[in-house]
Amino acid sequence: MTTQSAHRLAGRRILLGISAGIAAYKSAQLARLLKQSGCEVRVVMTEGAQAFITPLTLQALTGEPVRTSLLDPEAEAGMGHIELARWAETILIAPATADLMARLAQGMADDLLTTLCLASDAEKMMAPAMNQAMWRHVATQRNVERLAQDGWRLLGPASGDQACGDVGPGRMLEPEAIMAELILPNREIAHGQAALGGEMPARGLHVVITAGPTREPLDPVRYLSNHSSGKMGFALAAAAAELGARVSLISGPVILPTPAGVERTDVETARQMHEASRLLAADCDIFIGCAAVADYRAEAVAEHKIKKTEGEEALSLRLIKNPDIIADIAKLRDTSGGRPLVVGFAAETRELETYARDKLERKRLDMIVANDVSTAGLGFGADDNAALLLWRDGEGEGGASLPPQPKSELARAVIERALGCLTSRPVH
Ligand code: C5P
Repeated sequence: MTTQSAHRLAGRRILLGISAGIAAYKSAQLARLLKQSGCEVRVVMTEGAQAFITPLTLQALTGEPVRTSLLDPEAEAGMGHIELARWAETILIAPATADLMARLAQGMADDLLTTLCLASDAEKMMAPAMNQAMWRHVATQRNVERLAQDGWRLLGPASGDQACGDVGPGRMLEPEAIMAELILPNREIAHGQAALGGEMPARGLHVVITAGPTREPLDPVRYLSNHSSGKMGFALAAAAAELGARVSLISGPVILPTPAGVERTDVETARQMHEASRLLAADCDIFIGCAAVADYRAEAVAEHKIKKTEGEEALSLRLIKNPDIIADIAKLRDTSGGRPLVVGFAAETRELETYARDKLERKRLDMIVANDVSTAGLGFGADDNAALLLWRDGEGEGGASLPPQPKSELARAVIERALGCLTSRPVH
């Protein structure tokens, strides 16, 4: 978070509610970040939350007593619960369990936290955290709708590995991502969608984006990878979220913060990226393959570190082909009524248009964004990029040349073009 954005939080009175999820350990970091941004923080924990993290930890981090019970005469003699409800400018619950969400959706006031939520007209946000099956359950989704209608803003959840061993949606957003959400000016949007004002032409659409490199292990300490920084894919995710879409970002190993309002799934290998893509693309409107996927992986990953052998000047590695993720998603589209629109990237060092057109045809894409990566200062790792866009839609074939510009602007142009294709595309 920039100093300027942190500044916007200074002095804000935030009531941090913590419920009984394993993600509660991250609430300590969240409390720390809130304090560092200059917020006044009071913590309220449910009874179950105290099994995961102690009130003392939160008290030490916020410098304020932590409230845990509605029926505590001593605490009520200090700042009573109605006073606390009036004090808060923002109620932020992280993690919010399925149970707490159900109680809040029902308007219950059976403990201190739910009572405060009813008694306060503060801005309200929650970061859900639960097992993926619980999150997907129709009852939870009903509560999500209800809470959004009641004015709650839902931050996340993110997708990925879960403490229970499952993989899927239900991970609490990272504290840094929650902080980024807190400073968004428009607080009326549910489902963690970012709204930075202006038109939201992608509202109601689900966009899935792959980004960054993949990492293919050779042995426990070595891997094959490439120089992709992930910047372009992350810029696309931010642009799609700003235009109102629900965005799932599948990222290889990169050092970038998750854009506000974006659900992120971290992967390492091409096969993991493939699996996550198939899962998420089954329910999406636009799939953008921006990742630099390794074309090959080691046929066998050595169990132990590969040793140098005396007297042998060469080492042979046998590589086998990785799945072509985007081509696979395009096949899926052909058998599922034409959804999603598939957008690919092509990084070329020569004959940009010829190779890009070939890829558009061969992988059966709807649109391709071609970059000339031989130009210094553009493309890989840089903040700027230029691109040639080629597409096929209901009006035939189209093309546009986008001059060098910041990746954030280019990303917006790409998403807007994809939205154009979506509305005028032929049925496959
Ligand atoms: O064939 P090439 O790697 O140049 O194609 C680039 C496009 O294909 C990008 O959109 C990239 O994300 C996608 N791709 C993929 N799976 C692969 C290789 C490339 O999705 N195994």
